[in-house]
Amino acid sequence: MPQPCNVVIFGASGDLTFRKLIPALYNLAADGDLPSAANIIGFARREKTDETWRAELKETTAKCSRSGLNEEAWNGFASRVYYHPSEFGDAAGYATLKKKLDDLDAKSGTRGNRLFYLSVSPAEYGGILAQIASAGLNQAAPGAWARVIVEKPFGTDFDTARELNEHIAHAFAERDTFRIDHYLGKETAQNIMVLRFANSIFEPLWNHRYVDNVQITSAETLGVEARGPYYDKSGALRDMVQSHLVQLLCLTAMEPPTDLTADAVRDEKVKVVRALRRMTPADVARDVIRGQYAAGSMGGKEVPAYRAEDRVNPQSMTETYVALKLHVDNWRWHGVPFYVRVGKRLAKGGGEIAVQFKEAPGVLFNSEEAPLGANQLVIRIQPDEGVSLRLQCKVPGSTLHIEPVKMDFHYGTSFGRQSPEAYERLILDAMSGDATLFARRDEVEQAWQFVDVIENAWHKSDSPPPLCNYASGTWGPKEADDLMRLDGREWRRM
Ligand code: BG6
Repeated sequence: MPQPCNVVIFGASGDLTFRKLIPALYNLAADGDLPSAANIIGFARREKTDETWRAELKETTAKCSRSGLNEEAWNGFASRVYYHPSEFGDAAGYATLKKKLDDLDAKSGTRGNRLFYLSVSPAEYGGILAQIASAGLNQAAPGAWARVIVEKPFGTDFDTARELNEHIAHAFAERDTFRIDHYLGKETAQNIMVLRFANSIFEPLWNHRYVDNVQITSAETLGVEARGPYYDKSGALRDMVQSHLVQLLCLTAMEPPTDLTADAVRDEKVKVVRALRRMTPADVARDVIRGQYAAGSMGGKEVPAYRAEDRVNPQSMTETYVALKLHVDNWRWHGVPFYVRVGKRLAKGGGEIAVQFKEAPGVLFNSEEAPLGANQLVIRIQPDEGVSLRLQCKVPGSTLHIEPVKMDFHYGTSFGRQSPEAYERLILDAMSGDATLFARRDEVEQAWQFVDVIENAWHKSDSPPPLCNYASGTWGPKEADDLMRLDGREWRRM
């Protein structure tokens, strides 16, 4: 159960706070899921009053909240929202914060529980954590707790991730540290374990004997938007693959945990990351395709090339697309390739995991002239969340003609209600102390070790593999199709 607490958001003026965090907290309050004793305190540099911040938040929440904005619900919520102006490095700002939190505890029954949310640039993490610790804000009173939620990116490589984790560890125990990967909060990502382990028909087939390959895709139609300065230093591999895509891969490939406690689940996930075959530079050249979007047309509108985007280096070598083939070197997945692709400005937006089974033996219906095609289980992460299974069926009639059909489950029609936003679920979990849907230190560090080899082959080699262009509004560089074609396969058409 989420417990009463004060939530302090560092980075109160930031985009994430306005677009995601406050709308998520508001929806929780409007649905009656936020503990009745809970306050939100925004910590940021700019001078502002509570009233000004509330008015700004109201405007953006009305636009970004999944349920719109109800005046009465908003007023109730806003009365629990406060603003605390201070420099991140100013000790006095933390002393006054402590006083404010103590006053709020006395006034509203938040019991000394504190949830710190770091929604700032990672360069600020170390300083803020040190200030929190020296003000004693990380020390909870007996019976109370102090926790920290850390936004991605968790570092830019293994070394910086380790350094960041050290900073966190100086101030908070691992059990009080919640590293957000919002993909884990998506309803459909949570459903992967249920689908696999609450049904008995999939798991016996979920291995190298029956699975031919797995394709994990995250496609976006959006470009880099206003995030040029961050993205140009990051790129798709660090921005998406190291975090969200590795997490989806883990949920797909992991063994059943012994129970559903946070550590039992994360122990199984980290084994998958450890089992990812580390690539050599030659593997990277062969199995990883990086691309960057050129100008093109999206929905009939001309859009600029990545290099012409706001605050992006006009000679940038940053990838906005990656496709890679990887292997999970364990018994279950021996010889099964996992193909992962992510990209911006692609033809269509969506995320999915497609498990492609082996073809049925060819003796009866399958022939070289008319191959049957294989069964395919598709877990749609977004949009139109759901699951579909492709089967072969006889077309009604007097001749034997076989065609694939789809059994399709849609969340929207089956459950008839809106899924909560990932941030809603994750914030509530942090208030409850449940870290199952958060990344553990070892998962993050292992994922960086896997990704670093690829980054090094791209950026530290004398003969790096090419950066391939693709026109905006297409499905990425043709080299990514070649990667599949060489294996006699194709990307699933979304
Ligand atoms: C973020 C990345 O973590 O995830 C963004 O930094 C990306 O670049 C976003 O656009 C995608 O999230 P979603 O939920 O829209 O798929």
